[in-house]
Amino acid sequence: MRIFSGIQPTGSLHIGNYFGAIKQWLDLQDENDCVFCIVDLHAITVPYDPEKLQKLILEKAIVYLAAGLDPEKVIIFAQSKVKEHSELCWLLNTVTPLGELYRMTQFKDKAKKNEKAGLLNYPVLMAADILLYDTETVPVGEDQKQHVEIARDIARKFNRSFGETFVLPKVKLPKYGARVMSIADPKKKMSKSDPDEKSRISLFDSPEEIRKKLKSAITDTGKTIKYDELKKPGISNLLTIYSLLAEKEIKDVEKEMKGKSYKAFKEEVAELTVLKLEPFRKKRDELSGREVYVREILRRGEEKARVLAESKMDDVRKKMGLR
Ligand code: TYM
Repeated sequence: MRIFSGIQPTGSLHIGNYFGAIKQWLDLQDENDCVFCIVDLHAITVPYDPEKLQKLILEKAIVYLAAGLDPEKVIIFAQSKVKEHSELCWLLNTVTPLGELYRMTQFKDKAKKNEKAGLLNYPVLMAADILLYDTETVPVGEDQKQHVEIARDIARKFNRSFGETFVLPKVKLPKYGARVMSIADPKKKMSKSDPDEKSRISLFDSPEEIRKKLKSAITDTGKTIKYDELKKPGISNLLTIYSLLAEKEIKDVEKEMKGKSYKAFKEEVAELTVLKLEPFRKKRDELSGREVYVREILRRGEEKARVLAESKMDDVRKKMGLR
C-alpha cells in the first residue's frame, strides 16, 4: 500500500505528534511503500523566520530518524524540493469549490489571527501532497481528518471531470492517541503553536522539564484516577498518555494507579515519560553531529519522490489538455 503523511517543520514536535502520526508510521514502514514529507510550504502560511527554516527542516528529519524511521525503507524529503507539489496544488485549485475551503475547521481557527489566501488553500496543497503519490492511506491525528476527506473529494471531482486519474485516499487514525490534549488546558489539543510551553511535552524535553511540566499539569478537584473525558479531561488525558507510553490498556492503568493521589500519579507519568523519551534524546544527540548524513538522506528521498511526482504530473497535464 502507498502511504503518505507529513509534518510541518516549524515548532518542536511533541508527544501528540508522536502518538497521532509518527508511531503509526513506524508500524507501517515495514510492509508498505511509505513517503514521509516535511511540509515546509505549509509552514510558511503563518508568520515564520526564513533564517531558521532550513535548520528546522533538518531538525525534523533528525526526529524522523531518531523515532526509528528507516531511510532504506521509506522516502523522507522536504516538500518544496519537489516542485510538482506546488504545480498540482494550482491545478487542483481549479476543481475545488471555495465553500468547502471556508468550512474547514483549521482555516476558521487560524484565519482569526491571520487571514491569508495561503491559509485558505492549505488543504488544496495537502490534497496535492497526497494525490501526487497515488496514496491509499494517510496516517494522521484526528485534527487532519477533515483535510484528508477534502483531498478525497477533490480527487473524486477531478476524476469525474477529466477521467480516472487519482486514487481516492483514506484517513488512518490511531486507536488511541488520535487527539492528545494540552496538559495545561485539557479542553484544547496539545499543539506546537500554543504559546504556553507548559502545555506540551516535546520529544526532546529534558527530564527536568518533563517533571516540571507534569507536576503543574491541570487535573480536577476530585481524587479518583478514572477515565472520564467529560468530567475529568485532565486525568483522562494523563491516563491516555501513560497507557500509550506503557503500552497498556487504560483499564489496567486505572487499576495500577488505584488509591494513589493525583500528585503521585503525575509523578508516575513523569518518570515513565522521562524513561520512554530517553532513547529519542540519545539518538538525536548522535544524529545532530551527523548533519552531512542527514542532508544526504533528504537529498536521496527528494530524488526518489521526484521520479514518482514527475510521472504522475505527466498524466495529470495530459488529462487536463496541458500537453
Ligand atoms: P502538523 O504538523 O500540525 O501535525 C503533524 C501530525 O501530528 C498530528 N497531531 C496530533 N495527533 C494527536 N494529538 C495531537 N494533539 C496532535 N497534534 C498534531 C497531526 O494530526 C498530524 O498527523 N497539515 C498537516 C501536515 C500535512 C500532511 C500532508 C499530513 C501536510 N500535507 C499530507 C498528511 C498528508 C499538519 O499541519 O500537521
